[in-house]
Amino acid sequence: MSAEKVTITLGGKTTECPVVVGTENEHAIDIEKLRADTGFVTLDYGYKNTGATTSKITFLDGEKGILHYRGYEISDLAEKSDFTEVIYLLLYGELPNATQLKEFNQKLKDNSDVPAEIASILKAFPKGTHPMAQLAAATVALSGVYGEGATLKEENFINILAKFPVLVAMVIRNAQGLDFIPNDKNLDYVANFLQMTFGKPATKVLIDAMDKLLILHADHEQNCSTSTVRIVGSSNVNIYASISAGISALWGPLHGGANQAVLEQLHKIDEDGGDTAKFVAMAKDKDSGFRLMGFGHRVYKNFDPRARIIKKSCDEVLEDLGVTDKKLTIARELEQAALHDDYFVSRKLYPNVDFYSGIIYSAMGFPTDTFTTLFALGRLAGWVSQWKEMKENKEPIGRPRQIYTGANLRPYVAVGER
Ligand code: CMC
Repeated sequence: MSAEKVTITLGGKTTECPVVVGTENEHAIDIEKLRADTGFVTLDYGYKNTGATTSKITFLDGEKGILHYRGYEISDLAEKSDFTEVIYLLLYGELPNATQLKEFNQKLKDNSDVPAEIASILKAFPKGTHPMAQLAAATVALSGVYGEGATLKEENFINILAKFPVLVAMVIRNAQGLDFIPNDKNLDYVANFLQMTFGKPATKVLIDAMDKLLILHADHEQNCSTSTVRIVGSSNVNIYASISAGISALWGPLHGGANQAVLEQLHKIDEDGGDTAKFVAMAKDKDSGFRLMGFGHRVYKNFDPRARIIKKSCDEVLEDLGVTDKKLTIARELEQAALHDDYFVSRKLYPNVDFYSGIIYSAMGFPTDTFTTLFALGRLAGWVSQWKEMKENKEPIGRPRQIYTGANLRPYVAVGER
């Protein structure tokens, strides 16, 4: 809070709104008393200009292409840290020392078994059920076994963080009609996830690439799925239901589902003969209803720092795996065409985190429709940390206002008289 105040006079009534200043010098007008003092509310479709909370977890500056977790630069973490250390950082606010990290990893291993009932639920899904639907349902089903998950107890956070990689691996195999691979508690978080997914020990190249991708997806402040987790959690429901709601929000192609949509789009362009100019033209034509998936971002208006790191990693992983993918050539052409086209330049539309990630996932051997579960595996760290922060802040139930634009009061007419 600063000493500055904004005075607003509406319809002859005046209110004084405090100005809130963040640690990175972001400014907000606190309008909490606006309605009580003046009778007015604010209207902001898609919350483009509305801060829903204050948060100490992630800072991003979309104009400058900056992303920090708890004050640490994303590129530094992607290069030097590992995923469970980043989970610890997001959850507790500080990097762990060696003992803390060892204990944390041990707790994650100790709590990683997924109950047999959940495996039965997965098996009961109709063939072809999307993996995100399976993951959302299996996650909320955990509340049947661990019903106490509405409180701020540490075991609630550990429980879901520990089980999630096992659950995601089970979902990925189930979606392909494959049997589950036993959970191996001797393995580390990411190595075990990959072994449970592919049924064989993962190479260091795969583990490192997966680790980096999970770090890059771990948190992104108040995005659609995270806001969902916070608002659902604000009703005091348990953490499993809150996270399940976040998974559903992430599934959409305008959010995390874009990683699946990008690969499908690259495939379509390839099948169509690879003419990227044709698809760029379609994306510019508003009547076509076609968008270039993996381009544009609500907040980043310069570049997405995660996309830069992933693009570099994509080149390295494909070279290491000896994979040549025509879709990578198409992706590069599409990127260049869009970056030099006035439509994309003037609207500040750049490749986002999802543009290159699917090419790496595909090279690693993940089926296209399972990509968004990998985004969820990374983002769980942020969801749980944000849920915890919301509870610690004792935030009130989330409940936006509206401006009613429907019919005015009218008499009921009996059905026979209509
Ligand atoms: N292709 C073509 N035109 C686009 C695109 C695109 N991918 N994205 C935005 N535009 C145009 C849009 O038509 C509008 O044009 P105009 O001003 O002439 O009406 C302008 O750019 C602004 O777009 P908007 O939809 O108002 O912007 P937004 O902030 O509401 O939406 C977005 C952001 C990410 C939903 C959008 O850019 C999009 O649909 N991108 C494709 C889907 C995608 O890649 N999503 C992943 C986002 S990053 C991962 C994550 O955080 O989940």
